Amino acid sequence: MTFVVTENCIKCKYTDCVEVCPVDCFYEGPNFLVIHPDECIDCALCEPECPAEAIFAEDEIPEGQEQFLEINAELAEVWPNISEKQDPPEDAEEWDGKPGKLELLER
Ligand code: SF4
Ligand code: F3S
Repeated sequence: MTFVVTENCIKCKYTDCVEVCPVDCFYEGPNFLVIHPDECIDCALCEPECPAEAIFAEDEIPEGQEQFLEINAELAEVWPNISEKQDPPEDAEEWDGKPGKLELLER
């Protein structure tokens, strides 16, 4: 089992999650983070830390966002690791909760 970063992280990217991960299994793209499914130890520490409530256990992914399981696995192989919190984008709050952000995912 793994935890998965889902759509609401896109363009919010608060990065609070990376600070609590004991195995540093977050990977960073231009406007989104992903979790490496083979490295995640299923500790659940990151889930309550995300201000955007974008992190879910694999078996609790909201309906319609199932593709993020595959997206996390794919992009964790190509993006660089991130283990320290960064400042979020200036307009992060404006994007929090907006629907249809998947098409804005930058790879
Ligand atoms: Fe890291 Fe634990 Fe979150 Fe997995 S569940 S990404 S190991 S903090
Ligand atoms: Fe994204 Fe939430 Fe982490 S917005 S960067 S999953 S704290």
